[in-house]
Amino acid sequence: MIYLTTTATTIPRVLQQVSEQASWIEGVEIRADLLDPTELSGLTTLARAVRDCSSGLKVLGTIRREADGGRWTGEESKRRILLDRLSRAGFDLVDLESDLPTVDAERSGATIVRSLHDLKGTPANLERLASTLPRNPGEVAKVAVTPQSTAELVAIFRAADRLRDLPHVLLGMGPFGVPSRILTRRLGNMLTFASAPGESAAPGHLTPRALSELYRLASHRDSTRWFAVVGNPIAHSRSPAYHNGRFAEEGIDAVYVPVLVDAVAPLFELADALPLSGFSVTIPHKRGVLALLSQMGDDVRAAQACNTVLRTPSGWRGVNTDVIGFLAPLDEVLDDPLRGASVLLLGAGGSARAVGYALLSRGAKVSIWNRTASHARALAGDLAGLGVDGTVDVLEQGSEGVSASAPTVDIVVNTTSVGMNGEGDPVPWYHFRGHEVVYDIVYTPPQTPLIVRAAHAGCRVVTGDRMFAAQAAAQYELYRSIATAGGPDV
Ligand code: ATR
Repeated sequence: MIYLTTTATTIPRVLQQVSEQASWIEGVEIRADLLDPTELSGLTTLARAVRDCSSGLKVLGTIRREADGGRWTGEESKRRILLDRLSRAGFDLVDLESDLPTVDAERSGATIVRSLHDLKGTPANLERLASTLPRNPGEVAKVAVTPQSTAELVAIFRAADRLRDLPHVLLGMGPFGVPSRILTRRLGNMLTFASAPGESAAPGHLTPRALSELYRLASHRDSTRWFAVVGNPIAHSRSPAYHNGRFAEEGIDAVYVPVLVDAVAPLFELADALPLSGFSVTIPHKRGVLALLSQMGDDVRAAQACNTVLRTPSGWRGVNTDVIGFLAPLDEVLDDPLRGASVLLLGAGGSARAVGYALLSRGAKVSIWNRTASHARALAGDLAGLGVDGTVDVLEQGSEGVSASAPTVDIVVNTTSVGMNGEGDPVPWYHFRGHEVVYDIVYTPPQTPLIVRAAHAGCRVVTGDRMFAAQAAAQYELYRSIATAGGPDV
């Protein structure tokens, strides 16, 4: 159940927020502590007014103190009088903090949400804390903590698994807690909170629309397969929109969530605990996950990087769809086969390794140029040792040398980060002849200065968004085959 947490300071604006979000919510949490004090007299008719916006909405009343993350700074005695008033004014649920002495609200007939907040961390004894919260039968235990690591997120899921018989809401606030706001059903949570677009009542809130349409909360079942994208940072990943969109289109019972991951060991614990059926790996863990794989394809071994991890009956299998993702758009624009083509590869980092392997596996002649020539030499040595068809050498520093060799270059590929955010050209000294195919794997934005300059010179160009789309499509095929197979361990 998705509850909109209101952030407005006036009652008309609260009701406007409810009306605007009504299509995606089942309930509303009225945050009376955020209202102007002059509006508080309107609380007595507010629950009815909310239901007039959309019938069937449940209404929860909360007056959060500053110490618990709210804005109430008035007298505590006044707050208690207001809480009692809420419970008599038709609110379905009333939030009472765990340290509050007995108030009349407990005898009102409203369901009591007995809450505990930790704004700094995640206490070790979560399960016991939650199970000792209710004072009377029927109360809901709400524990909102602030995980500071992936390991603390895992602790939330483990604790929730041991609270099955207690009505509860166990939430992680902040960036590490985001999956706990989405996986409501998996956690056995009675509800999850969300904020209107552009507002945030609490750290990590998503919008009701994102929870309802992107993550399809109403469709989550015990049978639902969980997938994820893991990285640090992760909030701006485009992968949840892509994979959830395709699962929804094809009616597949699977959901894909973003997970902020600070270390690979707790990532694999989370993958066991949820359990995840597969996950996409992004910066900075593409290399770190290798140590925890039980099987890996040649592409992963050669690239020393893995962007896709799949659950199999015999452990985690690593795949690198960046390799196919890189080659597919290139094949679409090339007139001649890649075998024997001369490629100038810019960069010598992790992406260059995967791209270099992809090119060599198809028999290309690769010259690596990099700002730090020693990195280029080291990469060329590693790639040459793979026993693949193509040849690899290093283009040593010096713009004249590069320009002189340019007529023999058929393809230029940029794997450096230069061009991200639309700034910088990795090879301003390189003179395009116009016959080259120029491929920039940077996709934020796709029209990098390098691409713009190459297109201007008459080159055919391949932008990074095409590689993103191709690698995501290859990943999706793998996830779909797992999600539509028989048991959870397929
Ligand atoms: P990725 O995994 O995305 O490849 P990486 O391993 O950090 O990231 O590699 C970044 C690449 O971009 C390297 O080739 C790096 O060059 P150095 O080896 O000299 O560090 C290159 N790069 C980053 N910033 C650059 C800049 N301002 N100019 C030129 N090359 C740059």
